[in-house]
Amino acid sequence: MIKNYLFAGASSKTAIETAKLLKQEQHKVFGISTHAIKDHYDVCYNVANYESSEFPSFTEPLNGLVYFPGTIVLKPFNRLSESDFLSDYKINALGAASFIKHYLENLKASQKASIVLISTVAVGLGMPFHSSISMAKGAIEGLTRALAAELAPNIRVNCIAPSLTNTPLGEKFLNTPEKLDASQKRNPLKKIGEALDLANAIEFLLSENSSWITGQVLSVDGGMKHLKVL
Ligand SMILES: NC(=O)c1ccc[n+]([C@@H]2O[C@H](COP(=O)([O-])OP(=O)(O)OC[C@H]3O[C@@H](n4cnc5c(N)ncnc54)[C@H](OP(=O)(O)O)[C@@H]3O)[C@@H](O)[C@H]2O)c1
Repeated sequence: MIKNYLFAGASSKTAIETAKLLKQEQHKVFGISTHAIKDHYDVCYNVANYESSEFPSFTEPLNGLVYFPGTIVLKPFNRLSESDFLSDYKINALGAASFIKHYLENLKASQKASIVLISTVAVGLGMPFHSSISMAKGAIEGLTRALAAELAPNIRVNCIAPSLTNTPLGEKFLNTPEKLDASQKRNPLKKIGEALDLANAIEFLLSENSSWITGQVLSVDGGMKHLKVL
């Protein structure tokens, strides 16, 4: 059966890898982005930001939503301003809530739908300089569980929590051989994530293969959150 999926933050490398996987199965994938995107989506709509509710309207049922927009603003706690905290919260958390709210009737119309959100390993594992992003993504994990309860049994809600992944967002932490080497050594599987690693997990959570899974935060992090290896 051909399904309809909608992604916010469609320019994300991870979003594009996920769209490719779904398109291989002949599904329809629509995008929303603050950038103009020509490829990868059946249609991609341009929006000014994710904080307003000026999202395009759909008449068709939606089988799944994924909210990709995110930030990595790392600073010592005493250098984070109120506007840093608010900006991270708006892009990472409030935008996700507005996006889901806007398309709730489309999801309900499909009878069985799946929502996937994106957190970070830094919510479950304390890391220096991550206070703003861990607060904002912590809200995503709370939203995942609350909505999973409220929208059950017909709409499932899950999220993934990645560690450092090779995308434009992670680039500044990986842009020298020394930084890359240090990041790989810190990871239990001695590997930085690739966008496809995240896309495979998102595709699973969107699909019927995960039909008995809801309200979960799935670590997609090479073991970073739970393992300490030599
Ligand atoms: N890469 C990592 O190391 C890592 C680790 C943990 C979690 N994550 C999460 O993974 C998700 C996907 O990111 P990615 O790694 O695939 O990075 P990416 O390819 O750089 O994509 C960045 C995403 O953030 C959006 N975005 C960036 N700045 C924005 C702003 N100021 N206002 C609104 N939207 C903005 C972009 O949306 P547009 O389409 O509108 O441009 C795009 O969806 C994010 O939620 C991120 O927090 C990534």
